[in-house]
Amino acid sequence: MQYLPIFTKLENKPVVIIGGGEVAVRKARAILKAGAALTIVAPEFDKSLTSLADEYPINFVPAFFEPDHLTGAMLVIAATDNDQVNAEVFAAAEAKNIFVNVVDDQPKCSFIFPSIVDRNPITIAISSAGTAPVLARRLREKLETLIPQHIGPLAQLVGQFRDKVKARFTHFADRRQFWESVFDSAVVSEIQSGNQTNAETLLDSMLSQSNEPEGEVYLVGAGPGDPELLTLKALQLMQQADVVVYDYLVSDDIMELVRRDAELICVGKRMGHHSVPQEETNALLATLAKSGKKVCRIKGGDPFIYGRGGEEVQELARQNVRFQIVPGITAAAGCSAYAGIPLTHRDHAQAIQFVTGHCKKDGQELDWESLAKPNQTVAVYMGVVKSPHIQAQLIKYGRAESTPVAIVENGTRKNQRVVTTTLANLASEIEQHAIQSPALLIIGEVASLHQELAWFGKTQQTSSFAQPLTQVGLTADLQHKEI
Ligand SMILES: C[S@@+](CC[C@H](N)C(=O)[O-])C[C@H]1O[C@@H](n2cnc3c(N)ncnc32)[C@H](O)[C@@H]1O
Repeated sequence: MQYLPIFTKLENKPVVIIGGGEVAVRKARAILKAGAALTIVAPEFDKSLTSLADEYPINFVPAFFEPDHLTGAMLVIAATDNDQVNAEVFAAAEAKNIFVNVVDDQPKCSFIFPSIVDRNPITIAISSAGTAPVLARRLREKLETLIPQHIGPLAQLVGQFRDKVKARFTHFADRRQFWESVFDSAVVSEIQSGNQTNAETLLDSMLSQSNEPEGEVYLVGAGPGDPELLTLKALQLMQQADVVVYDYLVSDDIMELVRRDAELICVGKRMGHHSVPQEETNALLATLAKSGKKVCRIKGGDPFIYGRGGEEVQELARQNVRFQIVPGITAAAGCSAYAGIPLTHRDHAQAIQFVTGHCKKDGQELDWESLAKPNQTVAVYMGVVKSPHIQAQLIKYGRAESTPVAIVENGTRKNQRVVTTTLANLASEIEQHAIQSPALLIIGEVASLHQELAWFGKTQQTSSFAQPLTQVGLTADLQHKEI
């Protein structure tokens, strides 16, 4: 980070602007709005600068710049049209350790003015560190349309009630929870409609009624890894939680988005790594919620598809703990989309089956006869280790050896890798390419469409159709091609 964003209180603090022209006017207005004690040094002053003095107190110093003009200043702005003078101001300020901004000369700025979205007292500052001001301006315009005007008055109301709420709830977590419930209540719509008094009355009654905070579990599906595939609700609950219980399948990019000060508890779940037994995780969720915490149980993909989310909420229901379930994009949907493989297609697959290669120890065998039927897609979760068995059983029950297969490793993530092959070569390709978890197998004719469609995506792919190349309409130079 080149510039640390901080908000400074400039009220009555000495600020100096060198320059008396139009550029100085713009800066002076911003500085005066913040209540600073402004001195402007220039041999002569623009009319609009002198008329600013009707609204605000300004100390005009009619002189050419001297380093002594900066004595005692906290901030200095060089706003002259003379590069030489601006450079002298910069050097003098640097020598005295005073923050300095030379207008439109980013290398000579130890502070910069960000683009601002102003919903007083809420202020959002955007900076590109001087590299892409147009982009920063576009972002500001976007935020202006996204952030409602009533956010300002709402924040003012919060400020008014802060002490009362602090007196009512001694613990920070309880206060936070109270405010969360306020922001989900009719207080917001009252403010939105301009009914300040109603909002205050409502807030007062919420404050007198509120009991000890009630805990809750949010069972959230985080999708296969790309954070942009999170649902709005998932993001909202991740930001609200006091505790986040997660496992390794949740990508780092997604974990970056959870509330900064939430407690993080990892319960593992990765091949070959220690993980907390499922029963312990179930019990942990219930215990945390019963202690009044908002618990976000975040899972890769969808919590109810090979996620053991069912077991977790069963235990919560048994223990009378409130919960919400937020579906996520399951790996089959995410990986197939990012690999350019439609799971169904009128010409190739009229059905799709999701199966797991990793059954319970005492579990039954999969229904191979049904899985081996043609004109359908089989998406295999956790199928890498058992791929020799999967391959052998499907062929034994009649699926053609030439059936196209795609192996999608780290689907939807920056390091996604797609290997295409045939059923006959599935296990050997997995070994040859050292495929790591998480990886999904997509078995069926639709896998051949990867070559045609992935060119428009951003996937890294490896193709190794052996004989069936001509059958699926590919040219030989695509063999083993890595992109
Ligand atoms: C325990 S299951 C969880 C599935 C998850 N609940 C879902 O709906 O996607 C883990 C398996 O899902 C698949 N998987 C999950 N995320 C993946 C990803 N980003 N890329 C490829 N496969 C993934 C892999 O087969 C992995 O072994």
